Amino acid sequence: MSATTSTNKKTATEKKTYDPEEIKVRRVNFSFSKSNPRFYYKNNPFSTHFINALHIVFPTGERFFVNSVLKHQKKITDEKLKKQVRNFCGQEGIHSSMHERFWNILKENGYVIKGYENHIDNLLHKIIAKIEIEGTRINNIDLTATVCLEHFTALFGHAIFMHVDTNKGTVPEDIAELFQWHAAEEIEHKNVAFDVFQKVDDAEYTKRVLLMPIVTALLYFYLSVGTGMLMYQDRKYLDFKKLPKQFMEFTTGLLNDLHSDLYKDYFNFFKRDFHPSFLNDYNLAEDFFKDKTYA
Ligand SMILES: [Fe+2]
Ligand SMILES: [Fe+2]
Repeated sequence: MSATTSTNKKTATEKKTYDPEEIKVRRVNFSFSKSNPRFYYKNNPFSTHFINALHIVFPTGERFFVNSVLKHQKKITDEKLKKQVRNFCGQEGIHSSMHERFWNILKENGYVIKGYENHIDNLLHKIIAKIEIEGTRINNIDLTATVCLEHFTALFGHAIFMHVDTNKGTVPEDIAELFQWHAAEEIEHKNVAFDVFQKVDDAEYTKRVLLMPIVTALLYFYLSVGTGMLMYQDRKYLDFKKLPKQFMEFTTGLLNDLHSDLYKDYFNFFKRDFHPSFLNDYNLAEDFFKDKTYA
């Protein structure tokens, strides 16, 4: 650690020690530039639309996470976890609204996203959230799915700081800021849904290892559908001769960067004694928030 970093840490400690367990709700108010290029991630349509698919699925996905955790709120007696649940809901609520705000840019660029968004919304809220067979262990499927997906958001968050190129010269600053802020808060609150699940369901291990492969398949299926749908809507802006090279750049670039450490950490989830905090990367969030006025 450099001398400057330890001096900064000392100064921060004197003011207020950063505590990732506090899960602070930060009332950010981002706005997005209309003058960003159409293919804002390194001029690559595949990478840009993969990110756009995330912008579309996050709001409904995060409302689903919040609902699945809040259902069990009354069963949580531990004061620390109770507060973490409240702040987890606060953070996810603001994530939803900021990504939804980006939809205005998508709509102004002519994309039609309602059908795709409605489909995901129905799948999560009208199907998965309702799966329950009374008198059996087929229940809490929504909370299990949330725990699985929160593992992904925590690992993607980790990768955004460790591997993904978010440099000012290559990615618009407003979009990089949105994803870094979201990534940092995903790291901060990664334990909450998991801890609630462990408290309320004694079959949590069996459920999460059985559901994780299905959730993984659905997640990549729907992100691929979203990316493909936006690519199709953009067909008049694409140079078809360049597409194979652009696809290679996407897979060896953004997609590869997001998954650099993910393979190893993904499988840790299948261990019985797994806990999200075992990946001790809270310093990534701390470092990001150190000089933020909204932190
Ligand atoms: Fe989030
Ligand atoms: Fe989250």
